[in-house]
Amino acid sequence: MGKKILALSASARKNGNSSMLCDEFLRGAKDAGHETEKIFLCDKKINGCLGCFTCQKNGGECIQNDDMSGLYEKMRATDVVVFASPVYFYSFNAQMKTVLDRTIALHETFCDKTAYLIAAGQAPEEKYMTTMIDGFRKYIGCFPNIREGGIVFGYGVSDVGDVKGNPAMEQAYEMGKNAG
Ligand SMILES: Cc1cc2nc3c(=O)[nH]c(=O)nc-3n(C[C@H](O)[C@H](O)[C@H](O)COP(=O)(O)O)c2cc1C
Repeated sequence: MGKKILALSASARKNGNSSMLCDEFLRGAKDAGHETEKIFLCDKKINGCLGCFTCQKNGGECIQNDDMSGLYEKMRATDVVVFASPVYFYSFNAQMKTVLDRTIALHETFCDKTAYLIAAGQAPEEKYMTTMIDGFRKYIGCFPNIREGGIVFGYGVSDVGDVKGNPAMEQAYEMGKNAG
């Protein structure tokens, strides 16, 4: 049976390289019969976490009223979550990190899922991406039973469209096709 796949795309550019890799993943997932949804974070108004810990005392309600409210529901409901981000200074960009911080409100209710990391950066190989990979693994490890489905990096990309023809495109498609 098809699964629900939610992709969060954090590129600051509509056809950014990480966004294109995300689309390839979702194309593969759709071809395999999954139900997909892509959220382009730059279209959303999402504030930074206030660090008030109110959500930790009231059963997971964030006191802020912004586009994160709808995203909380989608993140709870999905089977698979894809974090697609540019690499900025060795890690997630601010748009993605803002969402990750806000998921502190989800706490135990963000559970039993498979998570994928998709990223694009100018650096040529994996040794420059270890901070991001480690951050992703440690992040999903903070929630109950979120398992790592896979990681795809588009290396050596900078301008919009550079990722076309990059082996990461096919990797993303195949990963999406086998997602679950
Ligand atoms: C502020 C900033 C910081 C960046 N830092 C890195 C970096 O640390 N490592 C890297 O490989 N690429 C870095 N890049 C290059 C981007 O990752 C690259 O342009 C990528 O394609 C951006 O993703 P997008 O195309 O989805 O927007 C940086 C770009 C910007 C604008």
